[in-house]
Amino acid sequence: MSFKDEQAKKVHEIEEILKKYLPAQEGHQKLIMEAMEYSVMAGGKRLRPMLMQETYRLFGGDNKVVEPFMAALEMIHTYSLVHDDLPAMDNDEYRRGRKTTHVVYGEAMGILAGDALLNYAFETAAKAFTMYPEKSLEIGKALQVLSGKAGIYGMIGGQVVDVESAGKAVSKEVLDFIYELKTSALIESAMMIGAILAGAGGEAVKTVEKIAKNVGIAFQIQDDILDVTSTAEVLGKPILSDEKNEKTTYVTLVGLEKAKEYVEVISMEAIELLHCFETEDMFLEELLKSLIHREK
Ligand code: IPE
Ligand code: IPE
Ligand code: MG
Ligand code: MG
Ligand code: MG
Repeated sequence: MSFKDEQAKKVHEIEEILKKYLPAQEGHQKLIMEAMEYSVMAGGKRLRPMLMQETYRLFGGDNKVVEPFMAALEMIHTYSLVHDDLPAMDNDEYRRGRKTTHVVYGEAMGILAGDALLNYAFETAAKAFTMYPEKSLEIGKALQVLSGKAGIYGMIGGQVVDVESAGKAVSKEVLDFIYELKTSALIESAMMIGAILAGAGGEAVKTVEKIAKNVGIAFQIQDDILDVTSTAEVLGKPILSDEKNEKTTYVTLVGLEKAKEYVEVISMEAIELLHCFETEDMFLEELLKSLIHREK
């Protein structure tokens, strides 16, 4: 099977897992379940659950304990997008090829849908305890990583500095801080949780964190590049959002060509580090390579 076919098959499998873990649409609060499904099932690359599952496999994981965590992380990532698009933040009206959640459901429901996804993510991940009580220690550690990487020392922290820095000159040091938190943190949690649930040791998990940090920074630089070089049709979200919001990005700081170079160099560093493990996962390696020149 070609890489592209295998990737499409995996995306489909991940979407089945997501559907299984989304809440039933019932009760007086049904509207929020609809808004949750609207944003989560809109499509998207499903990169984070994919990275989690592949890292789980890389370290020999072979059961379904990773599934509630895959769903949980995609819920947290989706919530971060729903809130990122709000008028008070990036104020964008398209995401994943459709109108953003706040445009369809109103701003209050947009805020609540994000809150709901964040909270339901932890309800979902905690289901792993009932499914695999004998894995409680690993599940506990995975929850620690998930909560930390999503919070003020992770994704939220990055978004705070991103929003605070809009319209201001930003140094490379601060920009790296923003990228490492707003984007790498969730990618780190994806790969670290995969490793932890498969029983990887502390040193291996640290190396995985380093790999994922690089993957995340390269991913965000590429996102900034696409914001100026792509089209809304291909991306499924508006282009020139960064310029509109006066954001400093790698593109504005070092220029388009240098930014492209960085994506390549930082990604290859991550791929090199993968080789220090005894086992390998060719799909994972190809996935990381494919991100260097991704078009969406
Ligand atoms: C968008 O993430 C936000 C960034 C961190 C750049 P993705 O590009 O992974 O978005 P989806 O999940 O494919 O929609
Ligand atoms: C967002 O960065 C990262 C998040 C934590 C959501 P961007 O604001 O560049 O993401 P897009 O371009 O809207 O997807
Ligand atoms: Mg943003
Ligand atoms: Mg944005
Ligand atoms: Mg962007």
